[in-house]
Amino acid sequence: MLEVRGISVRYGQGAPALRSLHLRAGPGQVTAVVGGNGAGKSTLMKAVSGVLPFDGGRLEGGEILFDGRPVHGLGPTALVRRGIAHVPEGRRVFADLTVEENLRAGASTARKDVRASLDEAYGMFEVLAERRRQRAVLLSGGEQQMLAIARGLMSRPRLLLLDEPSLGLAPKVVERIGEIISVIRGSGTAVLVVEQNAAMALAVADDGYVLEQGRVVLSGTAAELRATDEVQQLYLGGSGSAEELLRFADRAPLARWSA
Ligand SMILES: Nc1ncnc2c1ncn2[C@@H]1O[C@H](COP(=O)(O)OP(=O)(O)OP(=O)(O)O)[C@@H](O)[C@H]1O
Ligand SMILES: [Mg+2]
Repeated sequence: MLEVRGISVRYGQGAPALRSLHLRAGPGQVTAVVGGNGAGKSTLMKAVSGVLPFDGGRLEGGEILFDGRPVHGLGPTALVRRGIAHVPEGRRVFADLTVEENLRAGASTARKDVRASLDEAYGMFEVLAERRRQRAVLLSGGEQQMLAIARGLMSRPRLLLLDEPSLGLAPKVVERIGEIISVIRGSGTAVLVVEQNAAMALAVADDGYVLEQGRVVLSGTAAELRATDEVQQLYLGGSGSAEELLRFADRAPLARWSA
């Protein structure tokens, strides 16, 4: 479904934010990309959703295919129409609009069956149904994140991009976000989720990638990654530097290097 082939991205004259990055996200699957601050996770999402140029970034090489067709030259509106929706980092809801107005803003303009999508969103997120007439600013952080995810689903995407949905949320709410990701997959929408919270992301994902300094250093099924000692140590409780990860990557028995 989504195939990222060797993309490199740079902002201004700085060091590359992504270096020849390869990644696949399969239909109906959850694909997780985990990595620390500045690893390039949001840059990857912005490249796939077409907003990168608005942020001063540029693709310096490689290509992005969706259903086998190149999409890297397209803008965000065209990509939404193709079936890719992006829920950016930091749950940017419209604070002064109501829950329902936020959701309507996520429906693509050509759609006539907004009502049906609203009903679906309210079915999936009960708390949003209860508070549909309240301004988004009154919601808790977790509820705002759910609103941001629900708004992303309003365009009925085939691939939903989630940028750090668990950021700053309490453990119970993070667990709920994980459940929601599973429900979204169950409804047939593929999810590409980037997270610093590797435990959550690798718990719900089918496949995963570990990103460090703009490069994929490990990839495999989520189960393989979870079973890797080094991922456990560095991402699932312990702490560690990018250099350590790069050092162990070539001897991690269950991990596959990306092309
Ligand atoms: N708009 C921008 N202009 C210049 N440099 C940027 C811009 N956005 C990101 N970068 C740089 O690109 C690199 C990757 O950043 P990115 O935001 O993709 O990382 P991230 O993995 O999402 O990190 P975080 O976990 O903090 O969100 C970093 O070195 C960052 O400083
Ligand atoms: Mg980020």
